[in-house]
Amino acid sequence: MLEETLVLFRNIRTPGYDGTLDSYRKAGGYQSLPKALTMQPEEVIALVKEAGLRGRGGAGFPTGLKWSFMAKNTGKHSYLVCNADESEPGTCKDRELMLKDPHLFLEGMMIGCYALGCHHGYIYVRGEYFPAIKSLNKALDDCYREGILGPKLLGGDYALDLTVHTGAGAYICGEESALLDSLEGKRGHPRVKPPFPAVAGFNSCPTSVNNVETLTNVTAILEMGADAYKNLGSPNNAGTHLVSLSGHVNRPGVYEVAMGVGLRDIIQELGGGVRGGKQLKGVIPGGSSSPVLRADEIDIAYDFDSVGKAGSMMGSSAIMVFDEDADVVKLLHRISRFYNHESCGQCTPCREGTHWARQLLRDFLQNNGSERKLNRLQRVGRNMGGTTLCALGDAASMPIVSFLKKFPDDFRQYYATAS
Ligand SMILES: Cc1cc2nc3c(=O)[nH]c(=O)nc-3n(C[C@H](O)[C@H](O)[C@H](O)COP(=O)(O)O)c2cc1C
Ligand code: SF4
Repeated sequence: MLEETLVLFRNIRTPGYDGTLDSYRKAGGYQSLPKALTMQPEEVIALVKEAGLRGRGGAGFPTGLKWSFMAKNTGKHSYLVCNADESEPGTCKDRELMLKDPHLFLEGMMIGCYALGCHHGYIYVRGEYFPAIKSLNKALDDCYREGILGPKLLGGDYALDLTVHTGAGAYICGEESALLDSLEGKRGHPRVKPPFPAVAGFNSCPTSVNNVETLTNVTAILEMGADAYKNLGSPNNAGTHLVSLSGHVNRPGVYEVAMGVGLRDIIQELGGGVRGGKQLKGVIPGGSSSPVLRADEIDIAYDFDSVGKAGSMMGSSAIMVFDEDADVVKLLHRISRFYNHESCGQCTPCREGTHWARQLLRDFLQNNGSERKLNRLQRVGRNMGGTTLCALGDAASMPIVSFLKKFPDDFRQYYATAS
């Protein structure tokens, strides 16, 4: 029977834990930061590399490696910006951390700032997350009052300020370069890369953008050491991760599991299986942009590499389950409508492609589909992949291409019944 492996949710799952500074300290909190401060910043980066931590924001990029790319001796400030925008449909795990255990996350962020030699870090939070924003601001106030943050971090000679900045509801501001533009007070548009943020990020200074869960893992790595952390997961996929499980399951929710447990086990044993005793039809395994898997394709380990090998991606670990009665044409229309609405419009394939995909899918739903339109939808989907400035183009492309490949008859049924 699959059970949760509690590292990041250890406090949250403890009865009576309320996420306050007092509670966090009683649970052993703020012991990783002093440990980090006795090390050289490069040693902290080496430890995170050794632990094999991969980013939890979507791409699974190794965090220690990303930190080691930061431009050095530039004479400029360096910045750590936390991506707390959490807008990928189906994903709601960063919210849990910020809302229920903000200090566990903030401690990891402080360690990250120290490792990168930065004295001001920013947390860019999804604007709709009012309770999480309140919880973060309260936690920061408490840290300043207690001298954990400020000109003398924990009473030492390292100065650090952290600022919460709220977004205004644009999905594209989760893309790291658009996020930085937005943080600078501009319209959130993805930038042309290179230069990458590690060279020219916030205010053209060296910047690392890291996800909330990624930084929270840093607290755990300092606490347990690289080997113990690595041993929690599967090879090349270290640690635990937070899985947002939604859709047609009996027990939707956010669960913490070791990397590499079975995808079907998460759905069956943690999620309680498909609701109403129905048959499983398919699973979107890594947020709405990841290629869909059919029910017969989910007997795989749930980690970055295994889901990749199965032709999809683990992304932000958001699993969306749909049953035999789900209308996949409606589902894809809903997803495509979202990407069309959120496209910033800079690149022609994404601006036009998301628009035409949405229109074509609407045609199917209005019994106005045809084999020609099916082929056109396939072409529109394919043409967005790898042809755009940022990965939103790919995010819009992958569901279309995969749904048409995995469930072609569901689309054909629409015009077969119309004629
Ligand atoms: C359209 C788009 C939206 C994104 N939204 C988020 C988001 O909400 N949260 C996040 O952490 N990363 C998001 N990302 C990924 C970020 O660009 C970036 O890779 C990530 O924050 C890096 O953090 P990590 O290294 O800790 O994974 C998004 C990427 C794209 C292309
Ligand atoms: S891919 Fe889409 S969202 Fe990304 S920059 Fe181009 S138009 Fe904007």
